[in-house]
Amino acid sequence: MKKFTSVKDIPSIKKALETAFEVKNNPFGFQHLGKNKTMVLVFFNSSLRTRLSTQKAAMNLGMNTMVMNVNEDSWQLESEMGVVMDGNNAEHLREAIPVIGKYCDVIGVRAFAKFESREADYSEKILSQFVEYAGVPVVSMEAATRHPLQSFADLVTIEEHKTVERPKVVLTWAPHPRALPQAVANSFVEWMCETDYELVVTHPKGYELASEFMGDVKVEYDQKKAFEGADFIYAKNWASYTDYGKILSKDMNWTVNEEKMALTNNAKFMHCLPVRRNVVVSDGVIDSPNSIVVDQAKNREVTAQAVLKMILENS
Ligand code: CP
Repeated sequence: MKKFTSVKDIPSIKKALETAFEVKNNPFGFQHLGKNKTMVLVFFNSSLRTRLSTQKAAMNLGMNTMVMNVNEDSWQLESEMGVVMDGNNAEHLREAIPVIGKYCDVIGVRAFAKFESREADYSEKILSQFVEYAGVPVVSMEAATRHPLQSFADLVTIEEHKTVERPKVVLTWAPHPRALPQAVANSFVEWMCETDYELVVTHPKGYELASEFMGDVKVEYDQKKAFEGADFIYAKNWASYTDYGKILSKDMNWTVNEEKMALTNNAKFMHCLPVRRNVVVSDGVIDSPNSIVVDQAKNREVTAQAVLKMILENS
């Protein structure tokens, strides 16, 4: 595997899951793969889970790690081609990326949507430059349109908790005070579509995800109807794709609460974290035994390690 930016980069879901459970059962058994190898983690945005779990995954494999927070630790970086660089940005990605690539064997990069332009975000301006110029494999640690390390961890978590072969999985929009990217939702849909699970997406009108991700996935605008018989409820806020980056609703009637969870098939509650309590989800739901959000976060380490193992085996 030469890069990991979406589900399309893995050999197959079956192989990815096998590798995840292999490293989960034997986390320190593959240190020969990472000996004398280095991973640089480049963050354009904040992180708790991705930062710690990816570093831990690399260390489990015997790798060295270096973390750089762009703009805080480095020069401010320019991403547009052809600009006259007479402003605050002292260095262009075109030089910075290949230089970083000379100091390591794998680069992880996090660069969120900026919400300045849908076209710019959906062209993955920063991630695609890393893939093109790094000279070493690149792992997306959440880009403008996808968060594949999260979705892979979500898949492993569902596999561990499912009680029926083909669970009903519901992705529900939930309110939030700030405009958040569509990356987690897009990616979750993309990964779920590679399984044979039943997937339903529920959100208020105006929050339709891009058709390139949704395809013919079922949308149910009635949240309570969507919850009926569900085995997993995955809550996430995202800003509008059609009215790009806008908050169209903060309707607290979409908060996931105990009354709605009672409509499900004793569903497990999922969220990628960080989560706003009593906005996205009630205390009663996230504190219940059916909440598996910490298991999801634990599996971030597992799936980052699986991705790095597959990359190191091929390098
Ligand atoms: N879920 C997730 O990516 O968490 P962080 O933003 O804290 O890394």
